[in-house]
Amino acid sequence: MRKVGIIGVGEYLPQKVLSNHDLEKLVDTTDEWITTRTGIKERRIASDTEATSDLAIKAAREALAHAKLNPQDLDLIIVATVTGDMPFPSTASIVQNTLLAEKAAAFDISAACAGFVYALSIAEQFIARGTYKNALIIGAEKLSAVTDWQDRNTCVLLGDGAGACVLSEVKSGGILSVYLGCDGSNMELLNMPAGGSRKPASHETVDSRMHYLKMKGNELFKTAIRRMTMAAERALEQAGLNFKDVDLIVPHQANSRIILAVAKKLGIPEDKIYLNIEKYGNMSSASTVTALVEAVKEGRIKKGDIILLDAFGAGLVWGASIIKW
Ligand code: COA
Repeated sequence: MRKVGIIGVGEYLPQKVLSNHDLEKLVDTTDEWITTRTGIKERRIASDTEATSDLAIKAAREALAHAKLNPQDLDLIIVATVTGDMPFPSTASIVQNTLLAEKAAAFDISAACAGFVYALSIAEQFIARGTYKNALIIGAEKLSAVTDWQDRNTCVLLGDGAGACVLSEVKSGGILSVYLGCDGSNMELLNMPAGGSRKPASHETVDSRMHYLKMKGNELFKTAIRRMTMAAERALEQAGLNFKDVDLIVPHQANSRIILAVAKKLGIPEDKIYLNIEKYGNMSSASTVTALVEAVKEGRIKKGDIILLDAFGAGLVWGASIIKW
Protein backbone atom coordinates (compact mmCIF):
# COMPACT_ATOMS: atom_id res chain seq x y z
CA MET A 1 0.00 0.00 0.00
CA ARG A 2 1.16 3.51 -0.80
CA LYS A 3 1.67 6.16 1.91
CA VAL A 4 -0.85 9.01 1.54
CA GLY A 5 -0.43 12.56 2.78
CA ILE A 6 -1.82 16.06 2.47
CA ILE A 7 0.25 18.00 -0.09
CA GLY A 8 -1.81 21.21 -0.30
CA VAL A 9 -4.29 23.13 1.84
CA GLY A 10 -6.70 26.01 1.21
CA GLU A 11 -9.68 27.77 2.73
CA TYR A 12 -12.31 30.37 2.02
CA LEU A 13 -14.32 32.30 4.55
CA PRO A 14 -17.04 34.68 3.38
CA GLN A 15 -16.34 38.36 3.98
CA LYS A 16 -19.37 39.26 6.08
CA VAL A 17 -18.66 39.04 9.82
CA LEU A 18 -21.59 38.57 12.22
CA SER A 19 -20.53 39.32 15.80
CA ASN A 20 -22.13 38.29 19.07
CA HIS A 21 -23.15 41.93 19.50
CA ASP A 22 -24.96 41.78 16.13
CA LEU A 23 -26.84 38.70 17.39
CA GLU A 24 -27.88 40.56 20.56
CA LYS A 25 -30.09 42.64 18.23
CA LEU A 26 -31.69 39.54 16.64
CA VAL A 27 -32.45 37.22 19.58
CA ASP A 28 -32.52 37.30 23.38
CA THR A 29 -28.82 36.63 23.98
CA THR A 30 -25.63 38.32 25.15
CA ASP A 31 -22.02 38.38 24.03
CA GLU A 32 -21.13 37.21 27.54
CA TRP A 33 -23.42 34.12 27.35
CA ILE A 34 -22.16 33.09 23.91
CA THR A 35 -18.49 33.66 24.78
CA THR A 36 -18.50 31.82 28.10
CA ARG A 37 -20.73 28.92 26.97
CA THR A 38 -19.17 28.33 23.55
CA GLY A 39 -15.95 30.31 22.99
CA ILE A 40 -17.46 31.96 19.89
CA LYS A 41 -17.05 35.73 19.33
CA GLU A 42 -18.04 36.01 15.67
CA ARG A 43 -18.83 33.95 12.58
CA ARG A 44 -18.84 34.45 8.78
CA ILE A 45 -22.02 34.60 6.71
CA ALA A 46 -22.09 33.93 2.95
CA SER A 47 -23.84 36.44 0.71
CA ASP A 48 -27.18 35.72 -1.00
CA THR A 49 -25.32 35.03 -4.25
CA GLU A 50 -22.81 32.60 -2.71
CA ALA A 51 -23.80 28.92 -2.55
CA THR A 52 -21.81 26.15 -0.86
CA SER A 53 -20.06 25.26 -4.14
CA ASP A 54 -18.81 28.85 -4.49
CA LEU A 55 -17.11 28.61 -1.08
CA ALA A 56 -15.80 25.13 -1.93
CA ILE A 57 -14.31 26.21 -5.27
CA LYS A 58 -12.37 29.12 -3.73
CA ALA A 59 -10.92 26.85 -1.03
CA ALA A 60 -10.12 24.23 -3.69
CA ARG A 61 -8.24 26.68 -5.91
CA GLU A 62 -6.05 27.74 -2.96
CA ALA A 63 -5.33 24.10 -2.05
CA LEU A 64 -4.43 23.23 -5.66
CA ALA A 65 -2.08 26.22 -5.91
CA HIS A 66 -0.45 25.22 -2.62
CA ALA A 67 -0.02 21.66 -3.92
CA LYS A 68 1.31 23.05 -7.25
CA LEU A 69 -1.25 20.99 -9.16
CA ASN A 70 -3.79 21.84 -11.86
CA PRO A 71 -7.45 20.79 -11.71
CA GLN A 72 -6.66 18.47 -14.65
CA ASP A 73 -4.30 16.52 -12.36
CA LEU A 74 -7.20 15.48 -10.10
CA ASP A 75 -8.61 11.95 -10.21
CA LEU A 76 -11.17 12.41 -7.44
CA ILE A 77 -13.15 15.19 -5.79
CA ILE A 78 -15.11 14.59 -2.58
CA VAL A 79 -17.19 17.34 -1.00
CA ALA A 80 -18.31 16.78 2.59
CA THR A 81 -21.40 18.90 3.21
CA VAL A 82 -24.90 18.91 4.68
CA THR A 83 -25.79 22.14 2.88
CA GLY A 84 -25.12 21.27 -0.75
CA ASP A 85 -26.29 23.66 -3.46
CA MET A 86 -29.32 21.39 -4.09
CA PRO A 87 -30.39 17.81 -3.20
CA PHE A 88 -28.90 16.63 -6.49
CA PRO A 89 -26.68 16.72 -8.44
CA SER A 90 -23.86 16.67 -5.94
CA THR A 91 -22.00 19.83 -5.02
CA ALA A 92 -18.85 17.92 -6.00
CA SER A 93 -20.18 17.76 -9.60
CA ILE A 94 -20.55 21.54 -9.63
CA VAL A 95 -17.02 21.92 -8.27
CA GLN A 96 -15.67 19.46 -10.88
CA ASN A 97 -17.34 21.36 -13.71
CA THR A 98 -16.25 24.82 -12.56
CA LEU A 99 -12.65 23.73 -11.98
CA LEU A 100 -12.61 21.89 -15.35
CA ALA A 101 -11.24 18.84 -13.57
CA GLU A 102 -12.00 16.71 -16.61
CA LYS A 103 -10.76 13.33 -15.43
CA ALA A 104 -11.97 13.53 -11.82
CA ALA A 105 -14.74 11.35 -10.40
CA ALA A 106 -16.80 13.43 -7.98
CA PHE A 107 -19.32 12.85 -5.21
CA ASP A 108 -20.60 14.30 -1.93
CA ILE A 109 -20.67 12.67 1.45
CA SER A 110 -22.99 13.48 4.34
CA ALA A 111 -21.33 12.95 7.70
CA ALA A 112 -22.06 16.39 9.16
CA CYS A 113 -19.30 17.70 11.45
CA ALA A 114 -17.24 14.53 10.97
CA GLY A 115 -17.56 14.86 7.17
CA PHE A 116 -13.98 15.95 6.59
CA VAL A 117 -12.50 12.99 8.50
CA TYR A 118 -14.86 10.62 6.64
CA ALA A 119 -13.79 12.16 3.29
CA LEU A 120 -10.13 11.88 4.26
CA SER A 121 -10.58 8.19 4.98
CA ILE A 122 -12.27 7.49 1.62
CA ALA A 123 -9.74 9.43 -0.46
CA GLU A 124 -6.83 7.86 1.38
CA GLN A 125 -7.97 4.36 0.44
CA PHE A 126 -8.30 5.20 -3.27
CA ILE A 127 -4.73 6.52 -3.33
CA ALA A 128 -3.23 3.87 -1.04
CA ARG A 129 -4.53 1.12 -3.36
CA GLY A 130 -3.17 2.90 -6.42
CA THR A 131 -6.61 3.47 -7.97
CA TYR A 132 -6.07 7.24 -8.05
CA LYS A 133 -3.06 9.54 -7.83
CA ASN A 134 -4.45 12.89 -6.67
CA ALA A 135 -7.63 13.61 -4.69
CA LEU A 136 -9.23 16.86 -3.60
CA ILE A 137 -11.33 16.74 -0.46
CA ILE A 138 -13.38 19.70 0.64
CA GLY A 139 -15.47 20.47 3.72
CA ALA A 140 -17.90 23.25 2.79
CA GLU A 141 -21.05 24.60 4.39
CA LYS A 142 -23.50 27.44 4.07
CA LEU A 143 -25.16 26.74 7.42
CA SER A 144 -26.70 30.22 7.43
CA ALA A 145 -29.12 28.87 4.79
CA VAL A 146 -30.56 26.34 7.29
CA THR A 147 -30.24 28.49 10.42
CA ASP A 148 -33.39 29.61 12.23
CA TRP A 149 -32.55 33.22 13.03
CA GLN A 150 -35.34 33.24 15.63
CA ASP A 151 -33.85 30.32 17.61
CA ARG A 152 -31.22 31.50 20.09
CA ASN A 153 -30.32 27.89 20.94
CA THR A 154 -28.78 27.37 17.50
CA CYS A 155 -28.30 30.64 15.59
CA VAL A 156 -25.48 31.81 17.87
CA LEU A 157 -23.46 28.66 17.16
CA LEU A 158 -23.24 28.39 13.38
CA GLY A 159 -21.26 29.92 10.52
CA ASP A 160 -20.31 29.48 6.85
CA GLY A 161 -16.97 28.53 5.28
CA ALA A 162 -14.90 25.99 3.37
CA GLY A 163 -11.56 24.23 3.66
CA ALA A 164 -9.83 21.94 1.19
CA CYS A 165 -6.90 19.52 1.06
CA VAL A 166 -5.13 17.81 -1.82
CA LEU A 167 -4.09 14.23 -1.06
CA SER A 168 -1.39 12.35 -2.89
CA GLU A 169 1.27 9.70 -2.41
CA VAL A 170 4.09 10.78 -0.05
CA LYS A 171 7.49 9.22 0.59
CA SER A 172 7.25 9.28 4.38
CA GLY A 173 4.72 10.06 7.11
CA GLY A 174 1.21 10.88 5.91
CA ILE A 175 -2.05 9.46 7.25
CA LEU A 176 -1.16 6.88 9.90
CA SER A 177 -4.69 5.93 10.97
CA VAL A 178 -8.38 6.82 10.68
CA TYR A 179 -11.11 5.67 13.04
CA LEU A 180 -14.79 6.28 12.18
CA GLY A 181 -18.02 5.52 14.04
CA CYS A 182 -21.77 6.10 14.08
CA ASP A 183 -24.75 5.73 16.42
CA GLY A 184 -27.94 6.45 14.49
CA SER A 185 -30.16 5.88 17.52
CA ASN A 186 -29.73 9.49 18.64
CA MET A 187 -30.41 11.18 15.31
CA GLU A 188 -33.18 13.32 16.81
CA LEU A 189 -30.61 15.31 18.81
CA LEU A 190 -29.36 17.10 15.70
CA ASN A 191 -31.13 17.21 12.34
CA MET A 192 -33.11 19.15 9.77
CA PRO A 193 -36.57 17.51 9.82
CA ALA A 194 -38.01 18.46 6.41
CA GLY A 195 -36.94 18.78 2.79
CA GLY A 196 -36.08 15.10 2.27
CA SER A 197 -38.24 12.16 1.16
CA ARG A 198 -39.74 11.66 4.63
CA LYS A 199 -41.17 15.16 4.79
CA PRO A 200 -40.96 16.87 1.40
CA ALA A 201 -41.34 20.63 1.37
CA SER A 202 -44.95 21.75 1.84
CA HIS A 203 -46.72 24.81 3.19
CA GLU A 204 -47.02 22.97 6.48
CA THR A 205 -43.27 22.19 6.77
CA VAL A 206 -42.37 25.77 5.94
CA ASP A 207 -44.94 27.24 8.35
CA SER A 208 -43.69 25.01 11.16
CA ARG A 209 -40.03 26.00 10.51
CA MET A 210 -38.97 22.42 9.74
CA HIS A 211 -36.39 23.42 7.11
CA TYR A 212 -34.03 24.67 9.80
CA LEU A 213 -31.34 22.88 11.78
CA LYS A 214 -32.66 21.61 15.15
CA MET A 215 -30.28 20.81 17.98
CA LYS A 216 -30.65 19.60 21.56
CA GLY A 217 -27.25 21.00 22.49
CA ASN A 218 -27.13 20.17 26.18
CA GLU A 219 -28.01 16.50 25.45
CA LEU A 220 -25.21 16.34 22.87
CA PHE A 221 -22.60 17.93 25.08
CA LYS A 222 -21.50 14.90 27.15
CA THR A 223 -21.83 12.50 24.20
CA ALA A 224 -19.58 14.74 22.13
CA ILE A 225 -16.88 14.63 24.81
CA ARG A 226 -17.19 10.86 25.25
CA ARG A 227 -17.18 10.00 21.54
CA MET A 228 -14.38 12.41 20.61
CA THR A 229 -12.21 11.06 23.45
CA MET A 230 -12.89 7.47 22.42
CA ALA A 231 -12.28 8.17 18.72
CA ALA A 232 -8.95 9.85 19.48
CA GLU A 233 -7.86 6.93 21.67
CA ARG A 234 -8.73 4.41 18.94
CA ALA A 235 -6.95 6.40 16.23
CA LEU A 236 -3.84 6.71 18.42
CA GLU A 237 -3.95 3.00 19.21
CA GLN A 238 -4.27 2.09 15.52
CA ALA A 239 -1.25 4.27 14.76
CA GLY A 240 0.74 2.64 17.57
CA LEU A 241 1.09 5.98 19.37
CA ASN A 242 -0.11 7.53 22.62
CA PHE A 243 -1.25 11.00 23.71
CA LYS A 244 2.32 12.07 24.55
CA ASP A 245 3.27 11.73 20.88
CA VAL A 246 0.65 14.27 19.76
CA ASP A 247 2.13 17.65 18.74
CA LEU A 248 -1.20 19.30 17.92
CA ILE A 249 -4.84 18.32 18.28
CA VAL A 250 -6.98 19.90 15.55
CA PRO A 251 -10.57 19.22 16.59
CA HIS A 252 -14.00 19.99 15.20
CA GLN A 253 -14.90 23.42 16.55
CA ALA A 254 -18.40 23.09 18.09
CA ASN A 255 -17.67 24.40 21.55
CA SER A 256 -14.36 25.31 23.22
CA ARG A 257 -15.57 23.70 26.48
CA ILE A 258 -16.04 20.37 24.66
CA ILE A 259 -12.56 20.63 23.10
CA LEU A 260 -10.85 21.48 26.39
CA ALA A 261 -12.64 18.60 28.14
CA VAL A 262 -11.58 16.12 25.43
CA ALA A 263 -7.95 17.27 25.57
CA LYS A 264 -7.97 17.02 29.37
CA LYS A 265 -9.34 13.46 29.26
CA LEU A 266 -6.68 12.51 26.72
CA GLY A 267 -3.93 14.15 28.77
CA ILE A 268 -3.05 16.62 26.02
CA PRO A 269 -2.00 20.07 27.38
CA GLU A 270 -3.83 23.23 26.29
CA ASP A 271 -0.86 24.58 24.31
CA LYS A 272 -1.24 21.59 21.97
CA ILE A 273 -4.85 22.39 21.06
CA TYR A 274 -5.69 24.37 17.93
CA LEU A 275 -8.74 26.62 18.35
CA ASN A 276 -10.28 29.02 15.84
CA ILE A 277 -13.89 28.74 17.01
CA GLU A 278 -13.69 32.33 18.29
CA LYS A 279 -13.60 33.65 14.70
CA TYR A 280 -15.88 31.22 12.87
CA GLY A 281 -18.23 29.30 15.21
CA ASN A 282 -19.34 25.83 14.16
CA MET A 283 -19.12 25.33 10.36
CA SER A 284 -19.93 21.58 10.46
CA SER A 285 -17.78 19.73 7.89
CA ALA A 286 -15.79 22.91 7.19
CA SER A 287 -14.61 23.35 10.79
CA THR A 288 -11.95 20.66 11.23
CA VAL A 289 -10.38 21.25 7.83
CA THR A 290 -10.36 25.03 8.18
CA ALA A 291 -8.69 24.66 11.57
CA LEU A 292 -6.08 22.39 9.95
CA VAL A 293 -5.48 24.85 7.12
CA GLU A 294 -5.04 27.79 9.52
CA ALA A 295 -2.76 25.80 11.80
CA VAL A 296 -0.54 25.12 8.76
CA LYS A 297 -0.64 28.77 7.63
CA GLU A 298 0.25 30.01 11.13
CA GLY A 299 3.25 27.68 11.34
CA ARG A 300 1.73 25.66 14.18
CA ILE A 301 2.37 22.48 12.17
CA LYS A 302 5.91 21.55 11.16
CA LYS A 303 7.26 18.69 9.07
CA GLY A 304 7.30 15.49 11.12
CA ASP A 305 4.66 16.67 13.63
CA ILE A 306 2.01 14.23 14.79
CA ILE A 307 -1.44 15.76 14.24
CA LEU A 308 -4.67 14.43 15.74
CA LEU A 309 -7.89 15.33 13.90
CA ASP A 310 -11.00 14.66 16.00
CA ALA A 311 -14.63 15.35 15.07
CA PHE A 312 -18.22 14.62 16.14
CA GLY A 313 -21.60 15.58 14.73
CA ALA A 314 -25.11 14.82 13.48
CA GLY A 315 -25.82 11.15 12.87
CA LEU A 316 -24.49 10.85 15.41
CA VAL A 317 -21.09 10.29 13.81
CA TRP A 318 -17.50 10.68 14.90
CA GLY A 319 -14.06 10.28 13.42
CA ALA A 320 -10.42 10.77 14.33
CA SER A 321 -7.22 10.56 12.34
CA ILE A 322 -3.51 10.64 13.07
CA ILE A 323 -1.35 12.32 10.45
CA LYS A 324 2.43 12.59 10.43
CA TRP A 325 3.01 15.90 8.64
N1 COA B 1 -28.33 33.14 24.88
C1 COA B 1 -28.73 33.16 26.16
N2 COA B 1 -29.26 32.10 26.80
C2 COA B 1 -29.36 30.97 26.08
C3 COA B 1 -28.97 30.87 24.75
C4 COA B 1 -28.44 32.02 24.14
N3 COA B 1 -28.04 32.04 22.86
N4 COA B 1 -29.20 29.62 24.30
C5 COA B 1 -29.72 28.94 25.33
N5 COA B 1 -29.83 29.74 26.41
C6 COA B 1 -30.34 29.44 27.74
C7 COA B 1 -31.26 28.21 27.73
O1 COA B 1 -32.57 28.59 27.37
C8 COA B 1 -31.16 27.77 29.17
O2 COA B 1 -31.98 28.57 29.95
P1 COA B 1 -32.84 27.92 31.18
O3 COA B 1 -31.79 27.38 32.10
O4 COA B 1 -33.58 29.08 31.69
O5 COA B 1 -33.66 26.86 30.54
C9 COA B 1 -29.71 28.08 29.53
O6 COA B 1 -29.26 29.07 28.58
C10 COA B 1 -28.79 26.88 29.49
O7 COA B 1 -28.99 26.21 28.26
P2 COA B 1 -28.23 24.91 27.89
O8 COA B 1 -28.67 24.43 26.54
O9 COA B 1 -28.31 23.94 29.03
O10 COA B 1 -26.74 25.49 27.81
P3 COA B 1 -25.37 24.73 27.64
O11 COA B 1 -24.43 25.17 28.69
O12 COA B 1 -25.56 23.26 27.43
O13 COA B 1 -24.81 25.33 26.27
C11 COA B 1 -24.62 24.70 23.95
C12 COA B 1 -25.55 25.15 25.08
C13 COA B 1 -25.43 24.41 22.71
C14 COA B 1 -23.62 25.79 23.71
C15 COA B 1 -23.87 23.41 24.39
O14 COA B 1 -24.80 22.51 24.97
C16 COA B 1 -23.17 22.69 23.30
O15 COA B 1 -22.20 23.17 22.75
N6 COA B 1 -23.61 21.45 22.98
C17 COA B 1 -22.96 20.54 22.08
C18 COA B 1 -23.03 20.99 20.66
C19 COA B 1 -22.48 19.89 19.81
O16 COA B 1 -21.57 19.19 20.16
N7 COA B 1 -23.08 19.66 18.67
C20 COA B 1 -22.72 18.53 17.86
C21 COA B 1 -21.57 18.79 17.03
S1 COA B 1 -21.92 19.99 15.86
